[in-house]
Amino acid sequence: MPSETRLTPEQLRSYRWFGPNDLRSFGHRSRARQMGLAPADWQGKPVIAILNTWSELVPCHLHFKILAENVKRGVLQAGGMPVEIPVLALSETYMKPTAMLYRNLLAMEAEEVIRSQPIDGVVLLGGCDKTTPALIMGATSAGLPFIFVPGGPMLRGNWHGETLGSGSDAWKYWDEKRAGKLSEDEWCEIEDGIARSYGHCMTMGTAATMTAIAETLGLTLPGASSIPAVDMAHWRMAAESGRQIVGNVWRDQRPAELLTAEAFHNAIVADMALGGSTNAIIHLIAMAGRAGVSLPLEKFDEVSRRTPRLADLRPVGRFLMEDFYYAGGLRALLAQVTDLLHADVPTVNGKTLRANIAGAQIHNAEVIRELSDEGGTAILRGNLAPRGAVIKHAAMEARFMKHTGPAVVFRDYNDLAARIDDPALPVTPDSVIVLQSAGPIGAPGMPEWGMLPIPKKLVEQGVRDMVRISDSRMSGTSYGACVLHVAPESAIGGPLALVRDGDLITLDVAARRIDLMISEDEFAARKEAWKARPPHGQRGYLSLFINETTQADEGCDFRFLHHSAADAEPEIH
Ligand code: FES
Repeated sequence: MPSETRLTPEQLRSYRWFGPNDLRSFGHRSRARQMGLAPADWQGKPVIAILNTWSELVPCHLHFKILAENVKRGVLQAGGMPVEIPVLALSETYMKPTAMLYRNLLAMEAEEVIRSQPIDGVVLLGGCDKTTPALIMGATSAGLPFIFVPGGPMLRGNWHGETLGSGSDAWKYWDEKRAGKLSEDEWCEIEDGIARSYGHCMTMGTAATMTAIAETLGLTLPGASSIPAVDMAHWRMAAESGRQIVGNVWRDQRPAELLTAEAFHNAIVADMALGGSTNAIIHLIAMAGRAGVSLPLEKFDEVSRRTPRLADLRPVGRFLMEDFYYAGGLRALLAQVTDLLHADVPTVNGKTLRANIAGAQIHNAEVIRELSDEGGTAILRGNLAPRGAVIKHAAMEARFMKHTGPAVVFRDYNDLAARIDDPALPVTPDSVIVLQSAGPIGAPGMPEWGMLPIPKKLVEQGVRDMVRISDSRMSGTSYGACVLHVAPESAIGGPLALVRDGDLITLDVAARRIDLMISEDEFAARKEAWKARPPHGQRGYLSLFINETTQADEGCDFRFLHHSAADAEPEIH
């Protein structure tokens, strides 16, 4: 429950910068005056940093300048002093090899930007996939009161009256085009209609999953994550978040109060009930690690097995986030699984999760309804993935739930790109496509390559799903029988590195197994002969990432950041 604390102005953290009568504080105050501010702007007022991931290369965040202005309005109304601070904008669309490579960089930047400056509370503006976990990881480590403002999903896509979903329909129609069923002109029209407004992807991809998780963790105002980006309710939510954070600073509501083991349990329930992105597993492990909460992979499987899947949203289902909002949104969905939640956890608005979802109604029972009595994701283990792998079995053809087939192996993505459509490739619909060197270190950054392309000659025969295995991730908007996050990864000698063409591989989702069907002696001989490739990064951030990243089952956070003890406050001299 919310603390009864009420800080005095002298207890505000920013007072250390602005309050004392000494030379250093003189410098801080005189430079505030240089920005046109006067003591009335800061005296006795919490300084609220608005961390803004706006960039002209992040279309999902194109509206964040105006969003920040709305947050400022709320902060000023509540008697705070807003300061907008730009931070690294992780562009899911444009950053290569993958924005995931830079998630930890934004987390580090957010943490240090907060810790090193006269800030009392924080509003985080994020939404595009990696920005949500990165900002929350950094702010959690910084340990000051914060609130998350999700950017909101974009409008539904449209082509000839057909609804188009981010990512999902790009993959779908790309295969139709490869199969010769779509003209160049039609493909161009789809390019025109699939992303019609600012806002993050509007399928239940990683962005929508992670913002829903942020809300379930109690880090946003209730209902915030479901509001479409273009809806004026979004401006009102942003301003209310500004008002809320000022009060939370006075109450000294620290993230540790919210980010408990119970709250992370709730987040996993939400993920499974939504049929959310597989990426959420990696991010949740990393976020929990920052809060000192351990989330073993088995926890996800355990929750998945007893959480009904309730959201008929693409890529697993039919609808999009706009429909979800009109149907009642996350509050209505969570109200259906209240019994599975630790519903009495506190949230950022000072109320419990139970209070925030109480009475939420479903307005469209087509969109929110029980689709299955278990969640959308399963955790696999076996001799091919001793430290685990992930499959979104809700989004694959049922005939692959138990499947054995011969491997067709690609040693890296360039090899795959060069050979996958070769008419001579020895592949059948029963083959198992294997991609190596696609993990956190091998790629590097663990890109979203895991929905490996189906060979063109099979696409032309009508094949739309196959068993595919890699140590990479896949977009939350993707689908298919794709075994992902294989750990340990092939680049460090994980068993995936030992697979050869023609080896039989067995996937058994019900038994939660993924196995390479070779003898132990053969396994040992191949391991003995295996040699690592030269590492990618010799300098700079890439080198830091490769040397310090953990594997997928540990969240891919940096080892030196993956703990909860906050660093000391900076000395001011
Ligand atoms: Fe930004 Fe999908 S590209 S959320």
